[in-house]
Amino acid sequence: MSDCVTAPSGSDAKPLLQASGIAKSFGGNRALSGVDLAVPGGEMLALVGANGAGKSTLVKIVCGAMMPDAGTLELGGQTVQFRDVGDAMAAGIAVAHQQVAIIRPLTGAENIMLGREPLRGGLIDRRALAASAQALADRFGVGIDLSLECDGLSLGELKILDILKALATGPRILILDEPTASLTLAETQRLFVFLADLKRRGLGILFISHHMNEVFAQCDRVVVLKDGRKVHDGPIAETTLQAVVRLMVGRAIEETDWTSHATVADATPPVSLAGLRVGPLDVPELTVRRGEVVGIAGVLGAGQTDLLECLAGAAPGRAARRVRLAGLERLPGSVAEALDHGIYLVADDRLRKAVFRGLSVGENMLTGSLAQISHRGFVRSGVAQSTVRDLIARLRVKCSGPHQDMLQLSGGNQQKVVFARWLARIGGAADSAVLLLDNPTEGVDVGSKAELYALIREMARQGAAVLIASAEFSELIALCDRVYCIAHHRIGTCVPRAELSEDRLLLEVN
Ligand SMILES: Nc1ncnc2c1ncn2[C@@H]1O[C@H](COP(=O)(O)OP(=O)(O)OP(=O)(O)O)[C@@H](O)[C@H]1O
Ligand SMILES: [Mg+2]
Repeated sequence: MSDCVTAPSGSDAKPLLQASGIAKSFGGNRALSGVDLAVPGGEMLALVGANGAGKSTLVKIVCGAMMPDAGTLELGGQTVQFRDVGDAMAAGIAVAHQQVAIIRPLTGAENIMLGREPLRGGLIDRRALAASAQALADRFGVGIDLSLECDGLSLGELKILDILKALATGPRILILDEPTASLTLAETQRLFVFLADLKRRGLGILFISHHMNEVFAQCDRVVVLKDGRKVHDGPIAETTLQAVVRLMVGRAIEETDWTSHATVADATPPVSLAGLRVGPLDVPELTVRRGEVVGIAGVLGAGQTDLLECLAGAAPGRAARRVRLAGLERLPGSVAEALDHGIYLVADDRLRKAVFRGLSVGENMLTGSLAQISHRGFVRSGVAQSTVRDLIARLRVKCSGPHQDMLQLSGGNQQKVVFARWLARIGGAADSAVLLLDNPTEGVDVGSKAELYALIREMARQGAAVLIASAEFSELIALCDRVYCIAHHRIGTCVPRAELSEDRLLLEVN
């Protein structure tokens, strides 16, 4: 796989890729207007902007997945027109899209080498295929078993495979659309070591992220999109994080301490577990009181998702010594039973688990609360409409209206809709809710993140018990009263708020 790094030196004055005057509209909605973008070799260029700013649309145009309404693309000074993704790939452009493109029934190795399978005597040379994929994974330091089907992998692991798949094409330009959205700190750090190496070898890297600390620590230049227009393009060293955030979201985001510490006096905590086993994960003891936001930290695939799904009635658990869960003395037998008891899960991997394809934004928001908005079997359409309009405004969901197809929304806006579903259901009755959040702000921009944190805290203040797993330690630190750490398939140390730091969590989960 050494061909993936044989890019020409990046010292050329001409950018590897130059996009000029790119415009794109969807119906009446202008997603991009006259955007210029230059990606030089040997540089890592950040592309940032609020949810719905047009980043993914620009990426799709640059990689041949979508035709622009206007504008030109040049590669090494030559004008090019890509008819499809294959054209762009042949020209040396590889993308790991925001939405993972891994085929789950195939193995990790098959996915990485898809379309580039080594042949022998006209048949796929399985041994060579496995060796090539493994060589690439080893360079990245990936511990994923590539001989297994991908169905059991976590979203973060799938993301890593997707990045390896892009690299396997031997690109000159690598585009990563939110690669770190579901990676934990350790995986993210490994990714950056790898990217720095590719950059030294002359690759041009376009990096999209909502994590401003990554952008400022890793990138050479930053381009800011706002409402489909480029509003800034310059070296990282000549701007500040605050200035970029202000350009993106139109206002400053203050560092707020969201924790309340004012937990409700609670003799019987709504979540009290002992001696539970979920898959390979041991839960010797776990408690969440009303008014608390409690975190779970762990490396990718450590079992946090299985635990939350088990508590929400969506996955089995075994041999609990004690279960007290929202009035139940056992694990919920089904999702419906969990919902009846006020247990709500914001699942990870939204496109697979949380988004109803083919339904509109409004329908997706209301699927959890049909009983609340119905009377004698009929939906009260006035209530439904006002609930949806209220949530769209409250969460600033960028959409053309309640009727827009959910899949047409940008990634971060889809995530807001998924979150809004339980807000619609809970309404003012947060005091009896158990809220289970699995990486709930994946892909959400810095401005909206602050708003979601405020909402989560507000629900805790009203008496909800919140248990949150997050790939972002910074999120757990910002939000949680205490954080349980998973190490060696076991929920062990519970770090109190006063001791929370990224270094401490990294130490505990390794
Ligand atoms: N296929 C489509 N049909 C209609 N509208 C679309 C389509 N694809 C994108 N859009 C709209 O174009 C705008 C830009 O979306 P895009 O996905 O490029 O945003 P983004 O910057 O990547 O946001 P995020 O940070 O949430 O991923 C949004 O308003 C989105 O709803
Ligand atoms: Mg996007």
